[in-house]
Amino acid sequence: MPISIATKRQRACAALMRQVHAIEAAEGPTPSVLHAIKQKLVALANKTELFPLADFEMPVSQGRNHPLLVEENDGYGLYLTINLPGKEAAPHDHGIWCVNAAVSGIEKHEFFRRTDDGKTPGHAQIVKTGEVVVRPGQGMAMADHDIHSTIVEGEEPAIGLALYGYALARFPAVVWFHQEFASTRASPSRRLAA
Ligand SMILES: [Fe+2]
Repeated sequence: MPISIATKRQRACAALMRQVHAIEAAEGPTPSVLHAIKQKLVALANKTELFPLADFEMPVSQGRNHPLLVEENDGYGLYLTINLPGKEAAPHDHGIWCVNAAVSGIEKHEFFRRTDDGKTPGHAQIVKTGEVVVRPGQGMAMADHDIHSTIVEGEEPAIGLALYGYALARFPAVVWFHQEFASTRASPSRRLAA
């Protein structure tokens, strides 16, 4: 019997996860390790035949995450993400590393650096440090406390793979930055609820 696409996809995701653990185990999620992981994720995302749109429901609005391989406890979470044209997210810090790679479509990421001392509650100042356009063949990696904003560009949904150091259901507090008000706000952590 021929092997189904879903089975091939499952196997490819499991193989990726094994490789990522092997890379990460030696020295932790350093910038060079995250770069290497990004290259692996881009290679997987390039196998577009494994991710046919028919297998993944579109979002009703904004965006949607489809779990591909979510590990137990404090393991990693690998998702297929679909973000509709125009969807944007203000600058935020996940508190956990993240690597993205595009299957199709274009999502622009801008990166920021915090310039205040972080000692005044609700207050933050950030400056833009760079940007990466995630499109097929191009991914992005961010460390635990990097700050990014996102916007889907063009007329097509941005479909990609996202690998996080924790499953989304066990995410730490996400800290949002409002540059024009020099303010910050944190969403509740899911670390205790999970
Ligand atoms: Fe994010």
